[in-house]
Amino acid sequence: MKKGYFVTLEGGEGSGKSTIINYIKDFLESDGKKVVITREPGGIDIAEQIRSVILDKKNTKMDGRTEALLYAAARRQHLVEKVIPSLNEGYIVLCDRFVDSSLAYQGYARGLGIKEVFSINKFAIGDLMPDLTLYLDLDPQIGLNRIAKNKGREINRLDLEEINFHINVREGYEEVVKMFPERMVRIDANQEIGKVVSDINKVLIEKLK
Ligand code: TYD
Repeated sequence: MKKGYFVTLEGGEGSGKSTIINYIKDFLESDGKKVVITREPGGIDIAEQIRSVILDKKNTKMDGRTEALLYAAARRQHLVEKVIPSLNEGYIVLCDRFVDSSLAYQGYARGLGIKEVFSINKFAIGDLMPDLTLYLDLDPQIGLNRIAKNKGREINRLDLEEINFHINVREGYEEVVKMFPERMVRIDANQEIGKVVSDINKVLIEKLK
């Protein structure tokens, strides 16, 4: 039985999800909540192995549907091994990317179709959708510039896509927000980090009331 609360973070490259997720954790823990942070693709051993196949720069031949199916497979395993048990124990689960990444990247930007990609994902996740999704919205060029400055960050196969791909990802996210207006909250990620975090904290206070 699910007792916890499932929050996902979404956004394009360089939108700041992985930094911001730690601030959200601190905020919730200071309010006495039990919090687990995790990420996709990955989060547990089998899903990390699938992640390395998907993101390997050598795999330039990878077909779009293969990519979508691998993300869905990694998602399934991560859900079963980590997300569901944590929710059952009453944790707030903060997950860096989830199904909406597949809808925006594979469904829209790769052109496989949002509905089609959602249908293979329904097989993977059943009816376990997030309770809340924070979408960090940012001009893709600003995001890519941030990544270029952050020299320590590993560049993966999807980072190597042209700017147009990332512009399409953003358009894809806009479509997904329209599909799920109740669940998804758009956050302006082109602000200093303190402001982004305080915008998010306001949403969390409201939703967790
Ligand atoms: P990662 O290094 O985690 O990037 P980021 O820090 O931007 O989250 O790599 C994940 C990449 O995988 C990223 O380019 C987005 C992509 N992705 C998809 O295309 N579909 C998906 O379903 C997921 C979960 C990620």
